[in-house]
Amino acid sequence: MAGAVVVKELLREMHTWMAGYMKSFYTEDEEVQQGIRVKEEHTGYVTANMVALAKHLGLSEHDTALAEIMGLFHDVGRFHQYTLYRTFNDAHSEDHAELGVKVIGELPCFHKLSEEDYEAVCFAIRHHNKKILPADTGGRLLVFGKMLRDADKLDIYRVLNPYLSKENEDKMPNFVQGKGHPEISPDFIEDFVSGKQADFYRIRTLGDRKIVRLMWAYDVNFAWTMARIQERGYLDQIIRHLPMDANVEKGVARLKDYVAQKLRQEDRVEM
Ligand SMILES: [Fe+2]
Repeated sequence: MAGAVVVKELLREMHTWMAGYMKSFYTEDEEVQQGIRVKEEHTGYVTANMVALAKHLGLSEHDTALAEIMGLFHDVGRFHQYTLYRTFNDAHSEDHAELGVKVIGELPCFHKLSEEDYEAVCFAIRHHNKKILPADTGGRLLVFGKMLRDADKLDIYRVLNPYLSKENEDKMPNFVQGKGHPEISPDFIEDFVSGKQADFYRIRTLGDRKIVRLMWAYDVNFAWTMARIQERGYLDQIIRHLPMDANVEKGVARLKDYVAQKLRQEDRVEM
């Protein structure tokens, strides 16, 4: 099995490769370039989130390096996807996580990882965008899978929250879908009140999109992540921009209870 030093050296090679890969998609087409830059920045933040989370959880140097690799490559499939289909919508193109696993499979530096580590990286990337992790997941795969989903969500709030206000809504780039009607569809309100995850594929309005993003909070795994979400005010910003009625208020109260409970959780993992 590759030791910590080996993986750390691989990291340098991987950072260099990824930086060059992302630059190779730069284009004169302003709209495409904007999408590519957003994903390049997102990659940097998610990588940093993974390292911070790994340190918080007390992972070994080796596992922290693996977490960094997962963050760095989690959206590697996005670049090909956006250039080819001009969308980040998986439903309208291809599953970008599967695309990413394919890209990784062809990279020589990944063959230097032990089989176990390679499997963990592919697992975390493959499942970072799915509605839930497979029910039978356990051990290291479960820890890494949860970490990457948290690190990714935390940064998606940073990317999307600036477009919440009415005046910025119009500045929404094409890769942010959900322009249009501000109201929330009745089925989404129902899901929100019952604390259930709403189905991404049923989104019809801008209000639906906000509800889906709020409900991600129910899928945050670590108190560490929730604390970052709270201190940056991401959920409160979305709540302020919701069309309110008695049911939406009920959903908000339920969510706030859940967040408070999550913040009290002690993050402990077995690797
Ligand atoms: Fe992704």
